[in-house]
Amino acid sequence: MCALGQDLATTTETPPAENPWPSTTLFREDGDATTAGVSLVEIARLYGTPAYVVDEADVRRRCREYADALPEGTVAYAAKAFLCRAMAGWVREEGLSLDVCSGGELAIARSVGFPAERIIFHGNAKTPRELHDAVEGGVGRLVIDNLAEVHRVAALVPEGRRQKILIRVVPDTGDAVPSQKFGLSIATGEAGVAVARVLAQPELELVGLHCHLGSQIDSARPYEEAVRALAEQLALIRDAHGVVLPELDLGGGQAIAYLDSERGLDPRSFAAALTAALEERCAGLGLPVPRLIVEPGRSISGPAGMTLYRVIAVKRGGGRVFVAVDGGMSDNPRPSLYGARYTVKMVGRRSREAARPATVVGHHCETGDVLAEDVPLPADVRPGDLLAVAATGAYHHSMASTYNATGRLPVIAVSARRARLVVRREEPDDLFLREVGL
Ligand SMILES: Cc1ncc(COP(=O)(O)O)c(C=O)c1O
Repeated sequence: MCALGQDLATTTETPPAENPWPSTTLFREDGDATTAGVSLVEIARLYGTPAYVVDEADVRRRCREYADALPEGTVAYAAKAFLCRAMAGWVREEGLSLDVCSGGELAIARSVGFPAERIIFHGNAKTPRELHDAVEGGVGRLVIDNLAEVHRVAALVPEGRRQKILIRVVPDTGDAVPSQKFGLSIATGEAGVAVARVLAQPELELVGLHCHLGSQIDSARPYEEAVRALAEQLALIRDAHGVVLPELDLGGGQAIAYLDSERGLDPRSFAAALTAALEERCAGLGLPVPRLIVEPGRSISGPAGMTLYRVIAVKRGGGRVFVAVDGGMSDNPRPSLYGARYTVKMVGRRSREAARPATVVGHHCETGDVLAEDVPLPADVRPGDLLAVAATGAYHHSMASTYNATGRLPVIAVSARRARLVVRREEPDDLFLREVGL
């Protein structure tokens, strides 16, 4: 069994962290690396591999960076990127709001006493139970994403209360795809119908519009265009209905670096550009400036995490090197889903061999089970070596499966030279628990 709250501090630290790694990661001369002062080799020894490691201080720093960048706005961390009870607690303590998109995420938030008024619930097909739990739980904002929801939500609101509503729209800016399953189209008039219907329901209080442009957006420009388009919609709503909506939610999608060559979208310049575009457009439309809401997910938890794997086998032949590890597509489906690319480093041993391109593959019974294609690894990489994969703090734990009846990975939080287990490894017994008959 893994030890809890281990003090795994090491001392000799050398060069600064590279771009895709948690900001406290240091690669040492002897081949080991530390995050938050904790040796990755020791983490692997104590907790086993494969394992997710998350740098709590880095998560908190990124939360504060966003909050400082938007002092007049609301930053709602997008739970879908990574949520466990510890993470929900960090987000709560840092004063952020939380964007959830399922009953499960809502339940995790509620289990740690996350203030309901700071929760935004969205989703394109919320079930009756999810709507019930969200309204009953008193979530601060419910994002309407289809016309049928308007009456369903209104019917759930207890007497004497009003539910605050955002309407998710598809802004006609070229970056949001109108044929996607999310949102109500401004172009077809569906969004306008939703606005009129919500305004007609006394149980509902329409507070603003919501949109989400996509993923890995590395420039503020699409957000500037979207915020202008949404401000124009606010002006049209004012003209048609005589109401001035006080909020605009621009969703998430801010890019992070997965490779040394990539750069993420800096929260400060993103927020400054967005605010300036909004203020300018509102001035032109004679509108008071609405409160901005943003929902960063990946850019808060992604770079703060990494995955540790143990090399099981190495195959060389036909000019290629396959390095097979003890995890794979069940803990990281992104390469097979999206062709995602990663930075991989061998840690724990110093090699004098030159780096050669290698393909890191998983242990699943699937040819497409590739974790990283053509990454430089020492030519003598061998079974028993430890590999660290950077920027796996978002859309890894939350997208993990139990394919091949493989238990999901533990999450080890590191902070101030200490490591602690916040999610334990899933064992075969956990999988059996769901089976209720033979
Ligand atoms: C509505 C909404 N908000 C926020 C996010 C978070 O996006 P990201 O993790 O790319 O910041 C998503 C992701 O798809 C989303 O759909």
